Amino acid sequence: MSAADLGVDLLGTRLATPLLTAAGCGGTGRELEPHLDLTTLGAFTTRSLTLDASPGAPAPRLVETASGVLWNTGGQNPGLQGFLASELPWLAQRQVRVVVSLAGGTPGEYAELARRLGNAPGVWGLELNLATANREDHGRRFCDEAYHAGKAVAAVREALPRTLPVLAKLAPGPGLVDVAGVVARAGADAVVLVHGAPGLAFDPTTWRPALGTVAGTVSGPAVLAQALRCVWQVHAALPQLPVIGAGGVRSGFDVVQMLLSGARAVELGTALLREPAAPVRIAEELREELLRHGTTDLAGLIGAGHTTSRGEPR
Ligand SMILES: Cc1cc2nc3c(=O)[nH]c(=O)nc-3n(C[C@H](O)[C@H](O)[C@H](O)COP(=O)(O)O)c2cc1C
Repeated sequence: MSAADLGVDLLGTRLATPLLTAAGCGGTGRELEPHLDLTTLGAFTTRSLTLDASPGAPAPRLVETASGVLWNTGGQNPGLQGFLASELPWLAQRQVRVVVSLAGGTPGEYAELARRLGNAPGVWGLELNLATANREDHGRRFCDEAYHAGKAVAAVREALPRTLPVLAKLAPGPGLVDVAGVVARAGADAVVLVHGAPGLAFDPTTWRPALGTVAGTVSGPAVLAQALRCVWQVHAALPQLPVIGAGGVRSGFDVVQMLLSGARAVELGTALLREPAAPVRIAEELREELLRHGTTDLAGLIGAGHTTSRGEPR
């Protein structure tokens, strides 16, 4: 059997691989370039961008835990102007497919960012980081309230050419399936699951909270099982809605698990922090996984975990 082709169709584009980078974990792209040919990625996702530059949260912003990292960058980023002036042109020059992650404090801010990025060269899609505090809803996160998540997506959709993919990134929560349905109806072309889980850790020397902001988000292996369940639930309820899985993926088998749960592509985050060339190794492992199971049909895996070997829905 010949080597498995890892190509996937996502939102009207044939990607050479289902592996994308996750927001905030690949730096500006420059940090990854020495380790990785960025054009071999399905796409590169930027850190979340706000209208104005943000200095971010007090240090420490990232600490290791037993099974992943706890982080709160506080949304540090160069703002729209800085991004357009120095980060996007660098990526566009390299012909990297770019997903720009957006973080607004109101639906209007998401729309304004989208309007100004919609026609920018190199932008393949916009990912709305909806695990962001909504100033119009007492600082609650957009993704925790279906109505507000839908409002942000609808505002972006109105501001954009129809052809530009809009991805809505959500965090685990009891209303996840409802939120996914509402953002899809509001115009999201895909959902990204998940942003991470809430967490906290202490410093063993000082006995004080280890993170500058006290609480933060857990990423890495600790959230893989949670992410798989989220992908499974949303795919079961909304099988036509493309899902991009994220959370703790660090091997070819982890990618297989995401695909079986219903993901069409996968974002790699924490894995890049320790091993910037992880996409190369994981792609190779994915190929080996497929061949070991006697298949070259990657697309055939998407959602295949939802049927038993007898073909009955579970
Ligand atoms: C240091 C760090 C920074 C992150 N920054 C962002 C960000 O700017 N926007 C965003 O939507 N997610 C951000 N994330 C979340 C990741 O994109 C990803 O959804 C999450 O970490 C789960 O995937 P992983 O376990 O593979 O890291 C960040 C994660 C880490 C560890």
